[in-house]
Amino acid sequence: MSTFTFTDNRNGKSAEFPILNSVLGADVVDITTLNKELGVYTYDNGLSMTGSCQSDITYIDGGKGELLYRGYPIEQLAEKKKYLEVCYLLLNGELPTAEQFVAFEGSMREKRFPNEGLRNLFNAFPDDGHPMAVLSSAVSALSAFHHQHLNVQSQEEYMDMAIRLIAKMPTLAAYTYRHHMGYPLIYPDMDRYFTENFLYMMRAFPTGSTEISDVEVRAMDAIFTLHADHEQNASTSTVRLVGSTGAHPYAAVVAGINALWGRAHGGANESVIAQLEMIGSVENVDKFIKKAKDPNDDFRLMGFGHRVYKNFDPRAKVLRKLRDELRDTLGINSRLIEIANKVEEIALTDEYFVKRNLYPNIDFYSGTIFEALGIKRNMFTPIFVIGRTVGWLTQLIELKKDPSQKIFRPRQRYVGHTKRDI
Ligand code: SDX
Repeated sequence: MSTFTFTDNRNGKSAEFPILNSVLGADVVDITTLNKELGVYTYDNGLSMTGSCQSDITYIDGGKGELLYRGYPIEQLAEKKKYLEVCYLLLNGELPTAEQFVAFEGSMREKRFPNEGLRNLFNAFPDDGHPMAVLSSAVSALSAFHHQHLNVQSQEEYMDMAIRLIAKMPTLAAYTYRHHMGYPLIYPDMDRYFTENFLYMMRAFPTGSTEISDVEVRAMDAIFTLHADHEQNASTSTVRLVGSTGAHPYAAVVAGINALWGRAHGGANESVIAQLEMIGSVENVDKFIKKAKDPNDDFRLMGFGHRVYKNFDPRAKVLRKLRDELRDTLGINSRLIEIANKVEEIALTDEYFVKRNLYPNIDFYSGTIFEALGIKRNMFTPIFVIGRTVGWLTQLIELKKDPSQKIFRPRQRYVGHTKRDI
């Protein structure tokens, strides 16, 4: 067993800690006995240097800009596989055979309808509430309708709960949008594939036909795949932390939805479009790049930078290609693209961004495609939720199946008062 030696040079005490090999990426040092051996804790603000778990689901090589789901490169999955095939892969570890896919996809269709009583919940909300507030409430309410599944134990119960949540999320997101617009809620169409059904529930009206092109379904399907999982990002870590307390899966996913809402995380996609609109023209780009570089200005270039990627986010590359392919067929807003391309062109050559390895991330390109698909800006992050639900659930199930997993309980560096009397 290889070991890492820590030495406290205040007293010369040292101890050895096992190095655990990783299949890909950096090996890890197991420091669980550090305090017992040397009386200290580690301090890692933002936990960017700390492994919180052992996982075999997704791997990111931030230096190379590589993303693998169960070993398969994201570029190949986005291009060659349907989103529900990717869901099967994440949940089961292998891509489905044709028969397995038919059964899996069929089991999803039955679960698309939430309990009819849940429709009443939407009327409790003002129509100008942010869709993320409504969606997280609707998912939390699911636990009141499926309380028989609050204490999942067996693998099949977990799979049943996961399929239910993945199947219902597009319906709840569409209901959220329809309520926000003051439109009638549209029931799921059992004859349409997952992604087509989502666009149908967003666009249809009780009478008349609904236009949905194959190009649009393929674009949205690829976007769901690109958002499906991403190692231990903030919202996934939130889901794992809540799951580690024994709270039920719906509570963990609701916590993940709310963590994703932050503009430094999944909320960035909405902010990118708002920022491009604010920049307003190619001529104004330089002014905003200057603001982003100014240490005294908290303005940041939304859609740029990443905690792990220090190269192009591979998902961003796929989205950029998709955006340019769809530009004519979907009539993507070329003014925003011109501004985005100018921001990208300058930022990728400017020393400030190059030195800090700040590249476009997934959120930099997704917004222009969403707009072209007729998705309203405040619905961008709910779309991210639909794609990411499978990743949250896969990671949660892995946590629950890990016999060594304990309740998350980080320590701290205390810098407050010493003991004193009132
Ligand atoms: C997602 O973790 C995941 O995997 C998330 C995600 C997923 O799939 O789950 O990939 C989804 O959340 C993508 C990221 C979306 N967020 C944004 O686009 C918001 C804008 N980006 C930044 O807020 C920032 O880049 C973060 C939050 C994404 C990452 O921040 P870090 O790793 O904590 O980097 P940092 O704050 O330590 O910044 C390092 C330096 C700083 O400058 P110095 O102090 O060294 O002088 O880079 C600067 C920062 O000021 N910097 C930026 C910047 N991002 C970092 N400067 C200008 N614009 C930016 N966007």
